[in-house]
Amino acid sequence: MQRYSRTAIFLHWAIAALLAFQISVGWALDDLGARGFSLFQLHKSIGITVLLLTLLRVAVRYWKPRPAKLEGGWQGALASAVHVGLYAFMLGAPLTGWALVSTAKVKVPTLIFGTIPLPHMPLPADSHALAENGHALLAWLGIALFLLHVAGALRHHLLMRDGLIWRMMPARSPLLLVGLPALILIGFIAGRAILPAPRPAPAAQATAPDNAIEPANAAEAQAPNAALPADDAATNATQPATAEEPAGPPPTWTVQPGGRIGFTVGNDGDMISGSFAKWTAAIVMDPDHPDSADIKVTIDMASASVGDAYKDGMLPGDEFFGVAAHPTATFVAKGAQATGPGSYRASGTLTLRGVSKPQTIRFTLSGKDATRKVLGNATIARAAFGVGNGDSSGGLAPQVAVTFAFTARRK
Ligand code: HEM
Ligand code: HEM
Repeated sequence: MQRYSRTAIFLHWAIAALLAFQISVGWALDDLGARGFSLFQLHKSIGITVLLLTLLRVAVRYWKPRPAKLEGGWQGALASAVHVGLYAFMLGAPLTGWALVSTAKVKVPTLIFGTIPLPHMPLPADSHALAENGHALLAWLGIALFLLHVAGALRHHLLMRDGLIWRMMPARSPLLLVGLPALILIGFIAGRAILPAPRPAPAAQATAPDNAIEPANAAEAQAPNAALPADDAATNATQPATAEEPAGPPPTWTVQPGGRIGFTVGNDGDMISGSFAKWTAAIVMDPDHPDSADIKVTIDMASASVGDAYKDGMLPGDEFFGVAAHPTATFVAKGAQATGPGSYRASGTLTLRGVSKPQTIRFTLSGKDATRKVLGNATIARAAFGVGNGDSSGGLAPQVAVTFAFTARRK
C-alpha cells in the first residue's frame, strides 16, 4: 500500500499534537495575567515552531511523492478542501499570533525557547484587533475542520474499510492506530497540566484574595536541618506553627545573583510588564517556624524598566514612581504564616512614594539544605500609593501584579 513519506507522517502527527497543546494553553492565557508570563513565552515559542514545521511540511509535500487520491466526486473534493483549510489553519494560527504580539500597544519581547529573539512584524498598529480576533477565531475554525477531517478518516476506516488511515501511519499496527491520534489528546492534556495550580486553601484566600502560586512539594519544604522521614516532614510542613520550637536563632539568607522582581499591569486591554534591575533583600527565616521571620526588601525605583524607552522615561516621573523625592520602595514584614506545604504568606508594610500601607505577599520555598528557590507574588493597589495619578494613566488597571523569583543561600 502507498503511504505518505515518513517525514510527512511524522510532521502530520507532531504538528497535530502541538496544535492541541497550543489551543489548550492559549485558552488559559487570558485568565493568567502576570502568573502566565512564562506560559506566554512558551505558547509563542511552540507557535513559531509549528509555523516552521508547517513550512517544512508544505515543502515535503512538493518534494516527496504523495499517494494518489483514493476518492473522487464531491467526497474527494470535500476531503481536499478540508486539507487546504487545515493547512490554512496551521499557517494562519501562528501568523495571526505573531501579528497580534507585533501590533500590541506594549510590545513584550519574545525570546523563542529563552534564546532566539523573535522580531516584531512591521504591521500597522490598527491591525491589532483583527489579528487578535483572527487568532481566537482560527482556533475554532481549526477545531471544526479537525472534526470534519476525523469524521472522514472514521468513515474510510469503519464504513468503507479501504485502509486509507494507514497511509498516514508508518506501519499497520493497532498500537499506532490508537497511539498516534492519542498524541492529540496528550497534547491537549499537557497544555492543561502545565498551567499554574489553582489557589490553595480557601481559609488563606479569604484574608488575601491576591494571586497564589504553585505550592512546592512538602518534602522539599523541610527545614534546612530537618532530618525527618518524608511522612513526618510532610506533617511538620503543613503545621509548622505548632511544631517544636526552633533550637537556635532563625537562619539568615543571602539572595543570589540572577533573581527577578517583575510587575505587570493591565492597560486598555493590554499588559505592561517590566522589572526592577536593582533591589536587595535581607531575609531571616526558618521555613519550619515562619512566625519568627524578618524580611526587608528594598527596591531602587529608578531601575524600573518595561523595555520601551518612551515608557521607561515616564516611570521615574511624578505621575508614576516620583523617584526624585522617593528613590526607594521598601517592604518590611515581621513574621510569616504557612498556608500550605512549602507556601507562605507574609503580611507587612509596603512603603512606596513615601506612603506606607499594609501589604501581603505570598511565596513558596523549594529546595533543601542551604539553598532555597523563592517564588512569590503580591497584588498592589497602586492608587493608594499615588502611582499612576495623571492623564496617561487613564487606562491603567487599579491592581498591579508583582512577581518575584530568586535563589537564597543560608549564611
Ligand atoms: C501554532 C499555532 C497557535 C495556536 C493554535 C494558538 C492558539 C491560541 C488560542 C486558542 C488562544 C486563545 C485565544 C482566545 O480565545 O482569546 C491564543 C492566545 C494567544 N496567542 Fe496563540 N496560538 C498559536 C500560535 C501563537 C503564536 C506564534 C503567537 C505569538 C508569537 C501567539 C500568541 C498568542 C497570544 C499573545 C495570545 C493571548 C491572547 C490574546 O492576546 O488574544 N500564538 N492562542
Ligand atoms: C485523529 C486525528 C487525525 C487522523 C486520524 C488523521 C488522519 C489523516 C489521514 C488518514 C490522512 C491522509 C488522507 C489521504 O490519504 O487522503 C490525513 C491527511 C491530512 N491531515 Fe490528518 N488526521 C488527524 C488529525 C489531523 C490534524 C489535527 C491536522 C491538522 C490540524 C491534520 C492535517 C492533515 C492534512 C493537512 C492532511 C493532508 C495531507 C496532504 O495530502 O498534504 N490531520 N490525515
